Amino acid sequence: MNSPVINIDSNLQLNNQNSIPYIGYGSYKVTGKAAYNCVRHALEVGYRMIDTAHFYQNELEIGQAVRDAILHDGIRREDIFISTKIWNDDQRAGRQQEACETSMKLLNLDYIDLMFIHWPVKESYHQTWKILENAYDKQWFSNIGVCNFAEDQLCDLLKTARYIPQVNQMEHHPYLQDDTTRAFCDEQRIVYQSWSPLGRSMELEDATILKLAEKYGVSAAQIIIRWHIQQGCCVLPKASSAERIAQNIDVFHFEITTEDMQAITQLSCGKRVNPKSAPHNFDF
Ligand code: A2P
Repeated sequence: MNSPVINIDSNLQLNNQNSIPYIGYGSYKVTGKAAYNCVRHALEVGYRMIDTAHFYQNELEIGQAVRDAILHDGIRREDIFISTKIWNDDQRAGRQQEACETSMKLLNLDYIDLMFIHWPVKESYHQTWKILENAYDKQWFSNIGVCNFAEDQLCDLLKTARYIPQVNQMEHHPYLQDDTTRAFCDEQRIVYQSWSPLGRSMELEDATILKLAEKYGVSAAQIIIRWHIQQGCCVLPKASSAERIAQNIDVFHFEITTEDMQAITQLSCGKRVNPKSAPHNFDF
């Protein structure tokens, strides 16, 4: 049987009947005027999801860019999906509620489509999740999720959770694949979302990736992004130039064969973009 055709308007189904685009703009390390310009451009070329975090210090500019796109480009608020995250210090200090309110104020978009816990701060995440669940009940957030939760941390969270997270945002790229957590998320119908999907450009020079890029007549980044999408992952590539932002969403005109998908999956070797950015080993 042929797999259903995925196009730029295709969405992944969430476990609460909402949906999420396959691809979003990842805004880590893009700040100030650059953040504003990149988001305006991303929306112009077809992105409908923008991922930020309070830690990225760009919520204000991103909110402004989205509001201007709604005003000037005829895009509707309900067609845009905005996610942000509660930072670790706000969890540790018990400031989760204020942190939610601050992000809402900075983005200034009436509601947030997806609010995440940024990292599994052990002593705080059960409490943070309760606060997100209450805000979800009040419809401040259309969806709630976690980032960087490995399988055991998710299982622990679920012991006290009223709602199963809609999304788990994880470092995921050809060199770093956590099969155990991925399988658990599939079982629980938690969408697996990839941060640093290009391994912060680590895999762009990989021989297998380059060979496939040549075969399909696309760039190495496009091959990797398409691999995420065909795996059923939601993908958040970050790029700074207009050209790369546009290139990274131009991935719906080709399909990677099953054999070539496997060749990419086989590149898995446990290489993180930063050894200090792991679910059980983060120091911030
Ligand atoms: P830049 O930000 O200078 O455009 P990841 O999303 O895995 O974190 O990777 C982001 C890195 O990959 C950034 O250094 C970004 O560069 C680079 N990058 C993003 N898209 C492309 C592309 N299409 N071609 C080459 N490099 C890219």
